[in-house]
Amino acid sequence: MAHAAGVDVGSTQTKAIIINEKGEIVSRALTDTGANVVHAAEEAFSRALAAGDIFEEEVEYVVGTGYGRYRVTFGNTQVTEISCHGRGAVHLFPGTRTVVDMGGQDTKAIRVSPAGEIIDFCMNDKCAAGTGRFLGAAASALDIPLDNLGNTALRSDNPVRISTTCTVFAESEVLSWLGKGKKIEDILWGVHKSIATRSAGLLRRVGIEEEVTFTGGVTRNVGMVEALSQKLGVKLNICEDSHFIGALGAALFALDEILAHRAPTHAAAEEQS
Ligand SMILES: Nc1ncnc2c1ncn2[C@@H]1O[C@H](COP(=O)(O)OP(=O)(O)OP(=O)(O)O)[C@@H](O)[C@H]1O
Ligand SMILES: [Mg+2]
Repeated sequence: MAHAAGVDVGSTQTKAIIINEKGEIVSRALTDTGANVVHAAEEAFSRALAAGDIFEEEVEYVVGTGYGRYRVTFGNTQVTEISCHGRGAVHLFPGTRTVVDMGGQDTKAIRVSPAGEIIDFCMNDKCAAGTGRFLGAAASALDIPLDNLGNTALRSDNPVRISTTCTVFAESEVLSWLGKGKKIEDILWGVHKSIATRSAGLLRRVGIEEEVTFTGGVTRNVGMVEALSQKLGVKLNICEDSHFIGALGAALFALDEILAHRAPTHAAAEEQS
């Protein structure tokens, strides 16, 4: 059976997904993007091949997406990450009408049609205050590993109000709250709430229509999932593949190409005539 692949080279992490002809996920792999973007793409793809026990020749088409999509040297074509997140989200959650992608650098709000096409989108252009980067700055100031951020924040019973709107100042504000004797969990929950507020503002610009699907690496942070769903007052679609949704969308576009260039079967030819 033919396979299709999507490689999402993000500013922070690179994700690869391989799907079969039915659009089912066969394997996935994740690696840090680092300074060598070409290598990251190759590494994620070859790890996904190994994880699925698939030979490279069995993958008929590869689509690259993400900020480094033109560095996927083995890719057949590129599709923007907005389109890929929309397509992947609707594939996993067909009721999706709004997508929020929180990655390492950007947050994107996307409104999609029932078919997964983009109706409108909006992203934080210059400011990282509502993004994973802001979380990362707070995590390093508090010396907390990224995967403990959410759980720690959820222990808060008296969150501080984070007033800075700039990532550059996030670290000093966090440290000043620590100096005032505030508990780490209360500072962190304040940080999560502040990011949720900014992301909700971005979402309002495209219009929040249910169902809302949350994509990108920050979906792994249980605190952010909670903060954002509280702020929006809706339940967010997430699953264990949420971090891979952009790569999944890319793989689905790759599958479209495979199917479009295949000789029509007798049944399809008859239907057309
Ligand atoms: N286990 C984890 N726990 C908490 N947060 C995580 C975890 N893994 C990743 N993240 C968050 O996800 C971010 C990376 O997400 P993602 O891979 O979607 O970003 P990206 O696609 O590289 O960035 P962008 O789309 O902005 O270019 C990390 O910076 C971190 O904030
Ligand atoms: Mg991304």
